[in-house]
Amino acid sequence: MSEENTLTKNDSYSKTPDGRSAEEQPRWRQDFPIDLPQYNYISRRDFVKFLMLVSGAFTTGQFFLLFQALQRSTEVLPVLEIANVADIPIGGTHVFEYPEGSPSRILVRISEENFVAYEQQCTHLLCPVIPEPENNVIHCPCHEGYYDLPTGRPIAGPPERPLARVLLDIRDGKIFATGIERRTV
Ligand code: FES
Repeated sequence: MSEENTLTKNDSYSKTPDGRSAEEQPRWRQDFPIDLPQYNYISRRDFVKFLMLVSGAFTTGQFFLLFQALQRSTEVLPVLEIANVADIPIGGTHVFEYPEGSPSRILVRISEENFVAYEQQCTHLLCPVIPEPENNVIHCPCHEGYYDLPTGRPIAGPPERPLARVLLDIRDGKIFATGIERRTV
């Protein structure tokens, strides 16, 4: 420790917290004198450390968001009406093409309010996938691949990438496709 930080008992007393002399300090403070300059120095140093940690976490978070944004691309396509809400019960499915002439997409109603739609091709070797709403998964029978139904992310078997997701807009009792989002994670 440097000389200027090595305080004697008297040095500490000369900088008592309440400004009174050492003789006026209570007995407990005389027995356990506080090294006030050193205490303040450590507090400032800890505060700087804290600021550096916070700014480091913030920067890491920004890079993570940027990384995620780079992992997905959204293809905006002409809006297409694909089904009526009333025609699909909870757990029901509907196969459609979007855009017209493309490989099949599959729409699944997973709750009263929520629908999801994905490309029907497995991201492993392009076999058609089959929704199993009762198990909350999408199944690829070719090599026993499984995807999480609400997110389309792979959860078991060979697939490593999520299913391409069809973006939906629901209004006036109708379901519209508005684009396709491709993700790598
Ligand atoms: S093609 Fe789907 S798991 Fe292989």
